[in-house]
Amino acid sequence: MLYSIIVSAGLETIAREELTERFGDTGHLKILERRPQRLLFHYKGNPRDLLSLRTAEHLFLVLKRAPKMTRSRSSLAALSGPLTRFNFKETFECCRQVGINVRKRTPFRVTSRLSGKRNFRRLDLQRVVERALLDRGWYLAKSGASLDIWAEIHGDDGYISVKLSSNDMAQRSYKQAHIPASLKPTVAYGMVKLSRPHPEDVFLDPMCGAGTILLERAFVGRYRYLIGGDTSTEALDATIANFGRQHQPRQFFHWDARTLPLQPNTVDKIVCNLPFGETIGNVSQLTNLYRQCLGEYARVLKPRGRMVLLTSQRKFLDAGLKQRRSLKVSQRLTVDVRGMRAWIYVIRPR
Ligand SMILES: C[S@@+](CC[C@H](N)C(=O)[O-])C[C@H]1O[C@@H](n2cnc3c(N)ncnc32)[C@H](O)[C@@H]1O
Repeated sequence: MLYSIIVSAGLETIAREELTERFGDTGHLKILERRPQRLLFHYKGNPRDLLSLRTAEHLFLVLKRAPKMTRSRSSLAALSGPLTRFNFKETFECCRQVGINVRKRTPFRVTSRLSGKRNFRRLDLQRVVERALLDRGWYLAKSGASLDIWAEIHGDDGYISVKLSSNDMAQRSYKQAHIPASLKPTVAYGMVKLSRPHPEDVFLDPMCGAGTILLERAFVGRYRYLIGGDTSTEALDATIANFGRQHQPRQFFHWDARTLPLQPNTVDKIVCNLPFGETIGNVSQLTNLYRQCLGEYARVLKPRGRMVLLTSQRKFLDAGLKQRRSLKVSQRLTVDVRGMRAWIYVIRPR
């Protein structure tokens, strides 16, 4: 069966690694293509396993892929035409395996997405797919449970898929308490993976907010110690609530990340979503904050350690790094964080 997952922009490589790590040895996986925000792969195992992918925002079963879509309206037929004689037996079986209750006359709805210049509208795409299914005796859902069919055209690629995941695939059940500007767990997972987790890690998030990064690290596998801190007591309360009793040993501190009460060379990994925006301060306050934090992080990090920092204010981080020659950037990724461009820096001591 052909599947696709949708991931946040910038996380495609990490998603590919996750798929390979999780299913590469099973002999059930064959990754076909990496597209912007999308991975296409064949998988022979139970699709329920795919719902636990930590990078994925959505999971689809691809019914039809048309790789040569053009601007012309006539290319719509190439995408929707095969639906009129498509055998849905395996599709329905796959839906049942992930808990979608399909019956012979399950109502459906079509969601359409279109990018690039076309001589037709998104609604035309939607209608043509609806028509093909109505002609087979299916009927459109008015409300409530239904089969979620997606029709998409991006660049040359057209897809008709069934959405197998619910809208909260990328949410985590641990996230009970929230704070503003809390990080998307999928991005937090990506940052954790970039830190190259190791069972002996002393792992620090000095500005832990609601604890998303620390919790993603905890779920990835063994570690020696988790440390988190924040200036905000509300944020720390949220971290403590989200951790519950699980994931020992760990310790949380009410602190200012500019003066960490930690010994030099004691931390293996620092992963942190740096603050930004007017609530934190003006340009000179932010420049100072970034510079001072980098100084502290460099002090507590072990010589073979690794920092992974996320910011949407690249200029402050670049300015801080310029002054700190003992650190070098080994990787930089552009990511999309809630519609805003941001950068993940992987930084190592020289
Ligand atoms: C962008 S949020 C981090 C969100 C977190 N990654 C999450 O998913 O919930 C930044 C956090 O940094 C904290 N913060 C800001 N300045 C700080 C400082 N000087 N020391 C420690 N924490 C600070 C804020 O209170 C906020 O919780």
